[in-house]
Amino acid sequence: MDNKKIIVTGGAGYIGSHTCVELINAGFEPVIIDNFFNSEKFIVDRIEQITGFKPSVIEADCADLNTLSSVVEDLGGLAGIIHFAAYKAVGESTAKPLDYYYNNIASTTAMLKLMEIFNIHNFVFSSSCTVYGQPDVLPVTEESPVKKAESPYGRTKQVCEDVIADFKKANEDLRAVSLRYFNPIGAHPSALIGELPLGIPNNLVPFITQAAIGLRDHLTVFGDDYDTPDGTCIRDYIHVVDLAKAHVAAIKYLIDQEKGLYNIFNLGTGQGNSVLEVIKTFEKVVGQNLDYRIGPRRPGDVVQVYADVSKANEQLGWKTGLSLEDALRDAWRWENSLKEKK
Ligand code: UFG
Repeated sequence: MDNKKIIVTGGAGYIGSHTCVELINAGFEPVIIDNFFNSEKFIVDRIEQITGFKPSVIEADCADLNTLSSVVEDLGGLAGIIHFAAYKAVGESTAKPLDYYYNNIASTTAMLKLMEIFNIHNFVFSSSCTVYGQPDVLPVTEESPVKKAESPYGRTKQVCEDVIADFKKANEDLRAVSLRYFNPIGAHPSALIGELPLGIPNNLVPFITQAAIGLRDHLTVFGDDYDTPDGTCIRDYIHVVDLAKAHVAAIKYLIDQEKGLYNIFNLGTGQGNSVLEVIKTFEKVVGQNLDYRIGPRRPGDVVQVYADVSKANEQLGWKTGLSLEDALRDAWRWENSLKEKK
């Protein structure tokens, strides 16, 4: 490999930290850019504990092009940029749309400017299946139409994908992929890194583990009267380690391309599970019952979405290897390790 160094923005975050581990396992040297707005510095030490390699860290805001330009200049040749850093709370984005538009779009644009200035060719962007809204046909392929976004957060992902496409048209050297994540869950099997939700978790699995450990009184299932087999919503839950490995596959895929390109890939398991199935699987894996109650629907929830992952399987040469059981077991280990840390 010529250039081993690779910029990982948001590299101390949930998906970013797992990706740093897999990049190091594959022989890369991640350079983390993070402002630690929604992540913790000890995670960088944990990456070192798992892999034996400590990534260097640039503590900066990804939208701060001037600061970043002066630092990136000193890094020398780079294999590419993997851009995770973004605000990601759907509900909060409705209350603070300008924060979301500014942070998410300015930082993506700044990363592309860095690529232009320093002649970096490979770009991996964190997108989301939220761009599909409620798809008309399931499983959803990359050809499915992008629907009008339900939230400012979702719109930032759509806009950033369009920004990359426009930049590609103007810059024939660019090799870029947008990776549309379905529902990432779980933690590293070492229980040294995992998700650190700020405050009360919005997402299902962190809420389940916090309820099971006693940090939350009970879990509310948001609606059981949907048009699905058990009445609860269906999602495609992917183990974060499988997702992290897909980023390594994506960067290798880009390095192998002779000419510029912009491509989009779904990253999921290809399988849908209902909220009740996740709860039952969790109870089985940890051997304890969960206190859950059925509540009203959550506004804005899509009924069901799961991925067709054949494009990523074929073109990236990647497929998932871990199950829902594995992910819930690892999420539970991680929750327990946090308790021990306190
Ligand atoms: N749910 C509950 N109770 C909870 C939390 C969630 O029943 O306390 C349900 C939700 O109603 C939904 C399912 O669990 O049916 C999954 O909810 P999550 O909040 O975990 O995930 P979402 O699918 O709503 O959102 C995720 C990401 C978003 C992304 C979206 C794309 O968190 O960033 O997928 O569809 F935009």
